Amino acid sequence: MITKGIVLAGGSGTRLYPLTAGTCKQLLPVYDKPLVYYPLTTLMLAGIQEILIITTPRDLPQFQAVLGTGEQWGIHIQYAVQSVPRGVADALIVGADFIAGEGVALILGDNLFYGEGLGQVLQRSAQLTQGAKVFAYYVNNPEQYCVVELADTGQPLRLEEKPSQPQSAYSVPGIYFYDQQATALAQQIQPSLRGELEITTLNQFYLAQKQLSVEILGRGVAWLDAGTHESLLEASNFVATIEHRQGLKIACPEEVAYRLGWIDELQVRYLAQRLAQTAYGQYLLKVLAVDKRYFSFRDAAQLRRDGVDG
Ligand code: TTP
Repeated sequence: MITKGIVLAGGSGTRLYPLTAGTCKQLLPVYDKPLVYYPLTTLMLAGIQEILIITTPRDLPQFQAVLGTGEQWGIHIQYAVQSVPRGVADALIVGADFIAGEGVALILGDNLFYGEGLGQVLQRSAQLTQGAKVFAYYVNNPEQYCVVELADTGQPLRLEEKPSQPQSAYSVPGIYFYDQQATALAQQIQPSLRGELEITTLNQFYLAQKQLSVEILGRGVAWLDAGTHESLLEASNFVATIEHRQGLKIACPEEVAYRLGWIDELQVRYLAQRLAQTAYGQYLLKVLAVDKRYFSFRDAAQLRRDGVDG
């Protein structure tokens, strides 16, 4: 059972320059919230309450100002600094003290996941006790990601980082679940040609030990990243479209915490009061009034226990 999660929110964000000349990518807005809210709430939906944010020395104070201790959302947020962007797998080394020999989930700070049933998929993934688990997602541009080849049985056969001639359209999105071996294995990774500790290499280690499981994330789930100007705008437009249509927010940490029972109504009212003049504050009050049938990440049994399904 994985109870700890890392949001990797360092990096250089060079592709978003000049937006990232003074601010880091993960604090840029995706429509109505900072980008980091999306991966943070994804970990929360997995049932994870112990969270480490890894960022750069420059950006650490800003993250602390935006997210605080997490107590307001019923979670516990710690911070660590990655002084140089040594690669995604470096998160498991920087986060070694936090991980403390347990299992851990790792999510990239610029990845956004949204879709029906996602909470259940994530909570199931967090049950992992041995090996590693990643996802496969069908995309139009697999050559820009790690590509996974799958056997007919669904078993992973091969992982390849940014192949020029992808053998499959399944790419590996930026959320990974690892057992207690992750830090020790990450320490064995040699830097790639681009000088980074590649997360794909770590996943290949697990694959070689036949300890990597891959689940296909269906097309009903949206996986977006926000690393370029186009994808940042697409992510904003996506969130705005869904939020306007439903009147429900994507990745509102107060709402997620409330739905999961980590904060109570009184706390939501307290948080809303401080923002009473804003649309966000109004939304928090609305959360308390929304029909519980729309709690998409509560399972049917829970709904029955709540007595809302009759
Ligand atoms: P990338 O988008 O691959 O890298 P980047 O954010 O540095 O951006 P660019 O390519 O435009 O220079 O990183 C994916 C995520 O991982 C992102 O949230 C930043 C984070 N990251 C780190 O925190 N440390 C690292 O060493 C690397 C490589 C990435």
